[in-house]
Parts: sequence; structure tokens; C-alpha cells
Amino acid sequence: MSLLQAENPVAGVRLATIDDTDLLVPFINHAFAPDNYFKRTERTNPSQVTDYLRNGFFLLLEDTVGLLGLIYTELREDNRGYIGMIAIDPDRQGAGIGTRLLRIGEEFCCEKGSSVIEIAVVNLRPDLVAWYQRKGYRVVGEAPYVRPEILVMPCHFILMEKTLAPTPTADPEPQLTPHPN
Ligand SMILES: CC(C)(COP(=O)(O)OP(=O)(O)OC[C@H]1O[C@@H](n2cnc3c(N)ncnc32)[C@H](O)[C@@H]1OP(=O)(O)O)[C@@H](O)C(=O)NCCC(=O)NCCS
Repeated sequence: MSLLQAENPVAGVRLATIDDTDLLVPFINHAFAPDNYFKRTERTNPSQVTDYLRNGFFLLLEDTVGLLGLIYTELREDNRGYIGMIAIDPDRQGAGIGTRLLRIGEEFCCEKGSSVIEIAVVNLRPDLVAWYQRKGYRVVGEAPYVRPEILVMPCHFILMEKTLAPTPTADPEPQLTPHPN
């Protein structure tokens, strides 16, 4: 039984497909709207989501009513995973769903061989940097914003990383002690 099923028998996780683009784009843009003031454009669009689906995976957390939240994961070189674009239904934020999705994304990357997770947070979101720090991430550097042409104010990325705990290996075969005769 997966981590998620154990915690909530109603909600389930599935991988998004290209057919989910029309679900994902408005959901992500709605979730990010209050924090998107530094850009001329919305957070995402169908062409960007299509690119993301080519390069990585969106994990969707759903219940019987619909989508609760999602996380994007990408498997990179050198056993590194990337996580981004966590978006939770604004009516359901602050109830632990983001924390749960982050763990689900980390578990997904770990199962696929990642030992380190990378994230990039815009420097205008100190609240988010602090949130990730509480989840075990540390600041490792800075990088320029990827598309400066869409910015209405200067900003850059804060790069963060977390080393995942190694997956416990099965116990070795118990050593049989010879029975004293
Ligand atoms: C940032 C975001 C992903 C966080 O998701 P969330 O579901 O609101 O986050 P959580 O509820 O797990 O955590 C927020 C706080 O809620 C509180 N909380 C956590 N579990 C809770 C629970 N079971 N009950 C009540 N409150 C809880 C805690 O204070 C928690 O902070 P902490 O875990 O660091 O102590 C979400 O707000 C969001 O979608 N924002 C818009 C998009 C965005 O900015 N995404 C991030 C870019 S990667």
C-alpha cells in the first residue's frame, strides 16, 4: 500500500497525460495567481505544460470531487531529481496537502533512482524558501530567472537541494547459529 493510500483511502495519485492539459493549465494558474504579480504572463500555458509532460511527470492527487493538488517531477543526470510547480487548490491550502505531495514527489524520484532533489524558488518568495527549509531543503546557490522578458520586476532563483535518505535495504538472511550438540 502506498504512503498516500495508507493516509487517505479516498484520495489517489496518478500520473497526468497529455489529455490532462486542459485540467492542469487553469488549475496551476489559479493556484499561483496571488503570487504571480512579478510576471506579465500567467504561471503556465498549454505549450509549456506539453513540454513539461515530455520531460517529466505531473503527479496528480485527486479525491472523488476532483483535483486537490499536483507536483511536477523530472529525473535528471547523476541521480538527481527536480521538483517544482507544486499547486494546491486554494480552498484546500494550509491543510497538509502540499507537504504530502512533496513527500509523494520525493518518493517517486527516489524509487526512480534519485538521491538528491533540486528545486528553484524565486527570491520574491521568502515564505516558500522557509517552507522548503522546514521540509529539509537547504539553499545551495542562486541562478538567473529563466525568462527575463516576462518579468515586471527584477528577480532571480534561489536554488535548494535535499539529500534523500537511502531506501532501507532488506535485512540480510539471518545467520543460523549451529545448535550445540
Ligand atoms: C505553497 C503550497 C504548495 C503549500 O501547500 P499547502 O497544502 O498549503 O501546504 P501545507 O498545508 O502542507 O503547509 C502549510 C502550512 O499549513 C499548516 N499545516 C500543515 N499541515 C496541516 C494540517 N494537517 N492541518 C492544518 N494545518 C496544517 C502548517 O503551518 C504548514 O506549514 P509547515 O508544514 O511548514 O509547518 C500551496 O500554498 C500552493 O499551492 N501555493 C500556490 C502555488 C505555489 O506557490 N507553489 C509553490 C511553488 S513550488
